[in-house]
Amino acid sequence: MSAGGEVNLSPFSFFNVMSMSPPILVFSVTSRGRDNSHKDTLQNVRAVPEVVINLCDYPLVEQLSLASAEYPAGVNEFTKAGLTEVPSDKVRPPRVAECPVAFECVVGQVMALGDGPGHGNLVVCRVVQAHVREAILLDGRPGIDPLKYEAVSRLGGDWYSRLRPENLFTVGRPNRHLGIGFDELPTHIRHSDLLTGNHLARLANTERAALPSPAQIEEIKAEPMVAYLLNKHRNDAAEQQKQLTLLARQWLEEGRVAEAWRVLLVG
Ligand SMILES: Cc1cc2nc3c(=O)[nH]c(=O)nc-3n(C[C@H](O)[C@H](O)[C@H](O)COP(=O)(O)O)c2cc1C
Repeated sequence: MSAGGEVNLSPFSFFNVMSMSPPILVFSVTSRGRDNSHKDTLQNVRAVPEVVINLCDYPLVEQLSLASAEYPAGVNEFTKAGLTEVPSDKVRPPRVAECPVAFECVVGQVMALGDGPGHGNLVVCRVVQAHVREAILLDGRPGIDPLKYEAVSRLGGDWYSRLRPENLFTVGRPNRHLGIGFDELPTHIRHSDLLTGNHLARLANTERAALPSPAQIEEIKAEPMVAYLLNKHRNDAAEQQKQLTLLARQWLEEGRVAEAWRVLLVG
């Protein structure tokens, strides 16, 4: 919002969460590359240190893009992009009705990160009120359900990506226990051409106490697939090792880490 009370709306992808308590968000307004001039958003936050940061989802992405057009100061991009203003509870600028999440914020610091064309200006914002569409919340727990919030990310140039359930995955947090680490992986595993950094990380995240015992390694030799490969390649040690590693890789991808360890230690 300008000093004169005119509303302004623009998309920002240089944006992040920096603190939970106090709740701090940041975004960066760059100066224009062509003439180093400042965008309306920067001039406005200096004049009225309050903003609303609205999070977009896939159904809104083309309207968001429209709001990035360089209309002259004083033109309200809500109107141009067909979005609806809702009065905020605690700050003067309104929020976007269509957005699934909106944070009303008070601007603390504005930090110039350079002075030439394209330099960023970091705007540090303290959240004073949050609005979240109920339909995207997790069931019975605090937080947003990534399966219900169709987030978009801006990539380079005109590229964006759309978050779909098939692209979501979880990565177990390593801090619940201490894994052995990459440095303690047996050399033939660590330097295998068939295992990627992701495969090795799953192995390295295994606690020492959970590594297979000699009896468990013996036992896995009787597993039908392992027994088949051992027998089929009994006269070719290198091929046998390769096929067992491929089986371990498949099991790692299926989350069967303990069995993968066993098969990698056979032979
Ligand atoms: C998806 C998207 C993300 C953008 N992210 C940023 C950004 O992080 N920082 C920035 O300065 N400009 C960014 N822009 C460009 C601004 O939105 C654009 O310069 C806008 O016209 C600025 O409006 P204003 O003059 O009303 O502040 C982005 C544009 C799009 C379409």
